[in-house]
Amino acid sequence: MTFSVSVQNSAIRFPCQPNESVLDAVQRAGYEVPFSCRKGVCGTCKGCVVSGEVRAYGGDALSAADRAAGQVLYCNARPRSDLVIAPRSIGKTDPFARKTLTARVFRITQRAEDVVHLHLRFPAGVRVKFKAGQHLNVMLKNGERRDFSMANPPAESDGVQLHIRHVPGGAFTSYVFTELKRGDNLQVEIPFGDFILRDSDKPILFVAGSTGFAPIASIIEDALRKGIRRDMWLYWGARRKSGLYSELPRKWQAQHPRFRYIPVLSDEDEPGIRHGLVHQVVLADHPSLAGFQAYVCGVPVMTQAAQRDFVAAGLPSGEFFADAFVTRADLAAAGP
Ligand code: FES
Repeated sequence: MTFSVSVQNSAIRFPCQPNESVLDAVQRAGYEVPFSCRKGVCGTCKGCVVSGEVRAYGGDALSAADRAAGQVLYCNARPRSDLVIAPRSIGKTDPFARKTLTARVFRITQRAEDVVHLHLRFPAGVRVKFKAGQHLNVMLKNGERRDFSMANPPAESDGVQLHIRHVPGGAFTSYVFTELKRGDNLQVEIPFGDFILRDSDKPILFVAGSTGFAPIASIIEDALRKGIRRDMWLYWGARRKSGLYSELPRKWQAQHPRFRYIPVLSDEDEPGIRHGLVHQVVLADHPSLAGFQAYVCGVPVMTQAAQRDFVAAGLPSGEFFADAFVTRADLAAAGP
């Protein structure tokens, strides 16, 4: 039996098999909704089931309040009946927008004890369109993929810069740190994701944890180049000072009076740098978030805590946008 899935307040309707996730069915039908890990870890694919019944397994990215409000994770929800869903956003996939190509390592720069910046160049004459804040897949020889966000703005379209943190025991990041060198090739598919700046007049809070700075750097650089006229705060958190490579945000702050940079350390006390969890420092400065838009990128536990606490502080839930990066260890812990 095939079930029918309709999107509330739209003419979009598509089939979904009983053993198929709603996310897979959305994508097979040629549409895109927000997603990242596909494993119930990051919470990015969270959305409503307005009517109908689903079977969901695993995944701890939903709070009790989410469940009470009819929210599910589309990546692990399978239909038991026809459904009407209300995703946070949905759009037609552009079949020509995504490319698979070979990128060459142009430069690898160590930026922190456990972070390198990997600069890849596309083949001569090839330009790739992407939106600031999107990510790519590195395609490994064993068929696995790794997601990394572009840190450069889309105007620099002849290559990409990726911020890669060494994950202890992580096969790909260990390879990057020990073997990958200038001139080597990597297969990539680009672009993915909808962690992009939304049109609005509202002031913006950017909140980054560690290398979650990468997509936010792309968004801010792109917005500043386009002459954005909104107040912006960047809160960037790391465990230690060595994890903050602050030249770029300090340059933005010096050149743009409406941009402020607040570095935050959780494990070290440093004069002139705020101490604590980055999203809590945001709340200490802005106890009411009613008039803001927020863009948050980091590990799932950070993005989920930020969403919960920011909405509790008055941020409209539709003004919260997150990109949660999930490691292989997170996925393994989430089960099959
Ligand atoms: Fe569904 Fe991450 S994509 S929880």
